[in-house]
Parts: sequence; C-alpha cells; structure tokens
Amino acid sequence: MGNKLFTEILENAPVNEPERQFYFIEQIKALLDVKKGEGYEAKAMVTVIGCQMSAKDGEKLQGILQEAGYSITENEEEADVILFTTCTVRENANQKLYGRIGQLKHLYQRNKDLIIGITGCMMQEKDEVETIQKKYPYVHLIFGTHNIYKLAEYLLETMLSKEKKVELLEDSTEIVENLPSKRKYAFRASVNISFGCNNFCTYCIVPYVRGREKSRDSREILKECEALVADGVKEIMLLGQNVNSYGLDKKEECSFPELLAKIARIPGLKRLRFMTPNPKDFSDELLQVMKENENICNHIHLPLQSGSTAILKRMNRHYSKDSYMALVKKIREVLPDVSLTTDIIVGFPGETEEDFQDTMEVVAYAKFDSAFTFQYSKRTGTPAAKWEAVPEDTVKERFQRLLEHIRLHSEEREGRDLGKVMDVLVEEKDKESENMLTGRLSNNVLVHFEGGERLIGEIVPVRLDKSMGFYYYGSVL
Ligand code: 5AD
Ligand code: SF4
Repeated sequence: MGNKLFTEILENAPVNEPERQFYFIEQIKALLDVKKGEGYEAKAMVTVIGCQMSAKDGEKLQGILQEAGYSITENEEEADVILFTTCTVRENANQKLYGRIGQLKHLYQRNKDLIIGITGCMMQEKDEVETIQKKYPYVHLIFGTHNIYKLAEYLLETMLSKEKKVELLEDSTEIVENLPSKRKYAFRASVNISFGCNNFCTYCIVPYVRGREKSRDSREILKECEALVADGVKEIMLLGQNVNSYGLDKKEECSFPELLAKIARIPGLKRLRFMTPNPKDFSDELLQVMKENENICNHIHLPLQSGSTAILKRMNRHYSKDSYMALVKKIREVLPDVSLTTDIIVGFPGETEEDFQDTMEVVAYAKFDSAFTFQYSKRTGTPAAKWEAVPEDTVKERFQRLLEHIRLHSEEREGRDLGKVMDVLVEEKDKESENMLTGRLSNNVLVHFEGGERLIGEIVPVRLDKSMGFYYYGSVL
C-alpha cells in the first residue's frame, strides 16, 4: 500500500535537481500535516561526528528536515527521525558511531516508527555498511557523501514503505546547489567551495570516501556568501579539503586567492576564514590577499603531518621539512601577528626516532599556537595500510613527548596580546559561569568576559586583561 503511494508520487516527480528534492519536501510536509493533526509531533535530531565538512552536511540535513515540517530537537528520547553524519578519517571516529547506534536500540524497541539514518564518509566504506546492516537492523536509511542532498526523497520512501533504503554512489560529478541549510549560529556560516580531494596522501581515506575534487562555480559561491551577509552573517568560513587547489579542475575558473579577495570585498562581511590550505601549494598571492584585506582572519591552519622529509615523501605530501619551514618564515614575515595551527600524525609506518626528531624540530621552529595531534590510524584501502606499523608503545610514547613539546613552544606565543584591546565576535553564553560570555578574536583565540546575552552575534572591543594560556579573560569597553 505504502509502496504504491510512493510509486505514484515518484511518477510525478520532476527530473531536475533541486526541483525534484523540493517536490519531495512538499510531499513530506503534506504527510506530516496530516499526522500532526493526529497529535504527531514531528521532531528530528541530527548528530554530527567529524570535521567542519561533516558539520556542514549536518546543517544541510537539518535545513531539509525543517523545510519538510520537522522541528529540531537535541533530545533523542523525543525524536521521530535521528540522523548521523559520520567520519572515518581515523578508526576512533567509526567506534564513536557504533557506540551511539548501539545506544539507540532501546528507543527503537519502544517506538517502531522511529527512523534512524546514517550518511557521511563512513557510509562510503562497503565493510562498514555491511556491519551496520548486519548488527544494527533497526537502521533504516543509509546514504553516502555524494547524495546527501537526496534526503527528502529517501526519507519519504522509508516513511511510506517502512522498508530499508540504502543508496550509495561511488563518485559523482554533479554538485546540487540551493537546497535549504540550517546554520547553527545566525551570525556565522560555512560555505563549501570544493568537494573531494585529489591529493591521495598515503594515510588518508578522504579521496576514497569524498571522491575527486570538484570546485563549485565561483559565481554560485559569491551569490551564497552575499545572501548570507544580507541575512545577518558576520563571519564566513570557506571549506574545502585543499582550498589552494580551488578552481584547478575547471577551465575558466578563478584561483583561490582571487575567490578569497572577491568574497572579502562583499560589503558588510566582517570576518572571512578558510580551511584547509595545503602547504604544498600555498602561494605568495594568497598571503598578499590576506595582508590586503582586513576582514580576512589572522589565522592559518597549516597541516604539517610530519617534519621528516623522508616521511613526507612516503606520505605523498609534496613538500619537505625545509620548504615547510621556509613557508612558515615567509608567512611570519608577511603576517607577523598571524596565529598558526597545525595537524600532526605520530607513528606513520616506518617513522624512526630520527624522523620523529625532525617533527619536534619543526614544532620548535614554527611555534604553533595550537596543534591537533593524532596517532596514525590504519585505513583500509590506503597505500600506507600495507606498510609495516610502528609498535604501539613507541607511538604512544612519542605522542606524549610531542604533546609536551607543543605545549612548551606554544607557551612562548601565549599571552602576546595581553593588555591590548581587540575585536571579539561574541558567540554564546559561557558554559561555566553566569553573566559571562565567550567569543573569538580574529586569530581564533577564545576570550571570556562579562556581558549580557544581547551582545551575542555582535563584534565588540574587549580589553584582554588576563592570559590563561590558550584563552583570555577580558572586559568589554
Ligand atoms: N591517521 C591519523 N591521522 C589522520 N589524519 C588523516 N588521516 C589520518 C590517519 N590515517 C589526520 C591528518 C589530517 C586530519 C584531518 O586528520 O592530520 O590533517
Ligand atoms: Fe587527506 Fe591529504 Fe586530501 Fe587532506 S590533502 S584530505 S590529508 S588526501
């Protein structure tokens, strides 16, 4: 019966996107309106596991759900639909998902109409999808990174047929724009500039689960940014696996620095950030654009991964210890106040103590404001997965030494803005103390200060009174 209804709905669906998805959104809405009349509350929850890209996917899912008539809840006990966006960059991200899905079993036993769906990077791995289907039969909806925009179509089918829906695509050349998206903060937004990655670093699963690099049309990006600013957004974060290769996959597209400059010139845009530039193709032009545009934030996240030239070569990173350090030097010359952060992997196959010492040297030289450190995690299907692993004890021991070393060298830069008055974008009420607010400096450092809720979303001048290492206490002027 349900299937027949869906077949009829399907027959009338437009072929082109995004019209097709808007049609399914309307169909869900009509269905929910009837159910709401019978007391159904139509609540949905979206849980994000992973990076900013995954968070952005979560915003898209939420946007579609809201447009279709669901209200968003943070409480899984009351949700009718629970969706996950997943990450598989390291094994512990996968474990996190399994933990969460396992916990949902009792909810499903209580409410057989509950729809649980999973999308994102982890669903692009066949083995993981098989495991979920075998061990967690109450997951109804599985789709991947290339077809996230089709949520409404899949959800409607599941609702009507009560059957499982699994649809996974190997790769896609299509970018579907202009579907709803729900921002977490009214004043801050992220915007995709490209999808996928062509770099094939030998440890990394991203190119396999996100596909080849596809740049969005710069006019579309600009239009989206302008609309966000008109809607009150003060800070935009541009997202791509490697922003520096933006546009290279298209014939007549502008370069990343050109795109950045165009967006920076949108009147009313107070802050512009980007993530992530690869050190191998960080251009002088990009530094100049950062220098010339005051609203481009004073922060560069520059993943090092390893400081050893030999390891970098085996990682397929296309830069060396020396060229990375030369880049840091140049960045600090052009942008003396910039805050530099990084990612480092410890225990890549074949890493010797000498290689590790090279990493320690670069850390001492670069004086990162902060660093995300990871123990190497073997990812099936990547070249490095076949190489001999460093013993676990050695990895753990190096990891501890690295943490201590990073702390020591970041201390030298901590508190360098003490006493200054700097602009803070106020983000939220302080989680720990009453009457306190939390916000960020242009260089991404957190500041806590006293103030009323009405300041949230505003940029205010704050005097930095006390340095707490990674953050400040301040007072609004
Ligand atoms: N093991 C450990 N860390 C990894 N990263 C990516 N792949 C792996 C892996 N297999 C780290 C890199 C990257 C960050 C997002 O995750 O440091 O920059
Ligand atoms: Fe992975 Fe390297 Fe691409 Fe980053 S640049 S997503 S580490 S393959």
